Amino acid sequence: MKLWGGRFTKETDELVNAFNASISFDKRFWREDIEGSIAHVTMLAKQGIITDEDKTSIITGLKSILEDVDSGALVIGDEYEDIHSFVEANLIERIGEPGKKLHTGRSRNDQVALDMKLYVRSEIKEIRSLTVDLLKTIHNIMKDNTDTYMPGFTHLQKAQPVTLAHHFGAYFEMFKRDYSRLTDTLERMNYCPLGSGALAGTTYPLDREYTAKLLEFKCATANSMDSVSDRDYVVEMLNDLSLIMMHLSRFSEEVIIWNSNEYRFIEIDDAYSTGSSIMPQKKNPDIAELVRGKTGRVYGALMSMLTSLKGIPLAYNKDMQEDKELTFDAIDTVKGCITLFDGMLKTMKFNKDSMSSSARNGFTNATDAADYLVNHGVAFRDAHGIVGELVLFCIDKGIALDDMSLDEYKKICPVFEEDIYEAISMKTCVEKRNTKGAPGATAMKAAITANEEFLNNL
Ligand code: ARG
Repeated sequence: MKLWGGRFTKETDELVNAFNASISFDKRFWREDIEGSIAHVTMLAKQGIITDEDKTSIITGLKSILEDVDSGALVIGDEYEDIHSFVEANLIERIGEPGKKLHTGRSRNDQVALDMKLYVRSEIKEIRSLTVDLLKTIHNIMKDNTDTYMPGFTHLQKAQPVTLAHHFGAYFEMFKRDYSRLTDTLERMNYCPLGSGALAGTTYPLDREYTAKLLEFKCATANSMDSVSDRDYVVEMLNDLSLIMMHLSRFSEEVIIWNSNEYRFIEIDDAYSTGSSIMPQKKNPDIAELVRGKTGRVYGALMSMLTSLKGIPLAYNKDMQEDKELTFDAIDTVKGCITLFDGMLKTMKFNKDSMSSSARNGFTNATDAADYLVNHGVAFRDAHGIVGELVLFCIDKGIALDDMSLDEYKKICPVFEEDIYEAISMKTCVEKRNTKGAPGATAMKAAITANEEFLNNL
């Protein structure tokens, strides 16, 4: 059944039908479509636009469609143009005349604007809760690893020692921002478009605020033309999702590097790795690689949405139907990636010995050796030059700063004394760094307490 056709004398071309129809993908929000319709008729009856009997019969019919689709007794067939036609046709089939009143004071333009909003709203909530799961996993790893020393990198070169807790703490901050961005998006999209009609409102005395309240929005949208053509919130959500993927992708890249034969900082659980069909020794970090690879799809959805919208004059145009497939794909991709990444982190083993020996062998304590000299009256620029000489000496001998004898130290600079070893030990290097946000135990404890509070107050 079509929702239009009265003014047409010819059948629609088959190819046109297929090109125009959206049922194959918008059937995804059949629940939202029914939910919106129930709110709409409830309001119509309250306003005396339809009778209470009609309302009851429509709602009973809609609920029976909901149950039947849920149970599988009713299949959403591709012979309909879209989900709205499917629901209305089924309703009329089930309850007859009253079903024809469902669409009073409504257009598919405000209907689809509502359905998409309801769907995106519930998916954002779902993605937010997956983000919280991931934050909890990171938090637990942080708590267990405040003294797991490892090299911190700049330019992917060993720079200064940090801890695993500190390194993971950086990702905690990123995903915390992602969570708050999703919350911001929810806040800005919290206005109900239903009752905007095709573009210019309706002549029926609708109570749009009542419908908005029934559907748990803050209030009704302010301009009917904007209501039916606004997809800003889709762009915002895709931007939020792109940032989540960017963060996951950076994290994945580190997992891949840390899992390599050269690093061996981590061991990915067998359940989260795959093998090679030809090389028996291989255990590949495919999950991390796929997460990194799928990032492109989500960025693509964002670019696609922005581009589809940029030339659309007010109000609704069919271009807007293009808001769905890529958005659905981006949502599915992000949900899958967060879930898999979380599972991979939860089951991952950290090779603490490799991490700390890597930190010891990369001159990550060179800055602290220079600071030692500064604390003994040497100007920093001179200290920098002296420690540079020490490093050259060590590279030549294939040893670490910690392995030099005091005599060797003194030959390069007589200021060095026995306490240099303590001053450049990994523990000292990390534990003396206690400014807010630094890796020292005191600073880390404060960060972990703050994270705990954040998680407890969600
Ligand atoms: N399938 C359409 C969409 O997704 C529904 C709205 C149709 N409105 C219209 N005037 N043709 O945008």
